[in-house]
Amino acid sequence: MNKTIRQNIYNDAEKWIYQAGKLIREQIHDNYQIDTKSNANDLVTEVDRSTEQFFAEKIRETYPSHHIVGEEGYGDKVDSLDGTIWIIDPIDGTMNFVHQKRNFAISIGIYHDGIGEIGFIYNVMDDVLYTGIKGEGAFRNGQRLAQLTEQVNLETSIIALNSSLACESKRINEKKVQQLIKDCRGTRSYGSAALEFAYVAEGIVDAYLTMRLAPWDFAAGLILVNEVGGVTVQANGQPVNLLEKNTILTTNKQIQHQLLDTYIDLK
Ligand code: IPD
Ligand code: CA
Ligand code: CA
Repeated sequence: MNKTIRQNIYNDAEKWIYQAGKLIREQIHDNYQIDTKSNANDLVTEVDRSTEQFFAEKIRETYPSHHIVGEEGYGDKVDSLDGTIWIIDPIDGTMNFVHQKRNFAISIGIYHDGIGEIGFIYNVMDDVLYTGIKGEGAFRNGQRLAQLTEQVNLETSIIALNSSLACESKRINEKKVQQLIKDCRGTRSYGSAALEFAYVAEGIVDAYLTMRLAPWDFAAGLILVNEVGGVTVQANGQPVNLLEKNTILTTNKQIQHQLLDTYIDLK
């Protein structure tokens, strides 16, 4: 993508994210409608829907040739990565949004012909915007994030994962996950995949492992982590697929192989 075009898209997206964030903050204590989706704990609210609608309207008005993939269904039916695609999670961490009124993010990844151009992860209540721009780096509120080059090893690493991974499941060998929990320095679970990616990019968490993410959960994060020299793959080591749900390991390169070879045993 041409740099000037990318800069224009960046400026628009950033402006819309700040506007959407303000709208969300204004509604945070409202009595909005809460529904469930795939199961009783899979929440969605009126605010998730209206936020995605807000972005879809702005994008269609300004960039009618672009495509939209959105969690709440206001996007297009996209089955190829050709052209420019905005991959949007209007609220990542809806359970946190509803229960905690914090610790959730707007996540937008902008891809051109399958290449990640710009990633935005906006922690709405903390007013912290993480951005990643292809070839230019990743930033936290405009401040450049360092490359993940500092020596890390598993024993001194913090790993983000959901505690359910340590329970018996059909997806992953829980015994190996239990060993990982014992061997690493500590684990964290933030309840927003996008923020967990941002923390890996920031270097305050060394890896994030999860068994099922949709493209809108990781599209932005992948760009950010890439820009600081980290790496994102499926939990079997294969490249991720932006058109499907994936298992995900995003991490500092230095512990990637140890995690894949010693601790991640998919069933
Ligand atoms: C969820 C969050 C959560 C992750 C789930 C996602 P949502 O997104 O990122 O941390 O574990 O897999 O679906 O539903 O709040 O947008
Ligand atoms: Ca999500
Ligand atoms: Ca969501």
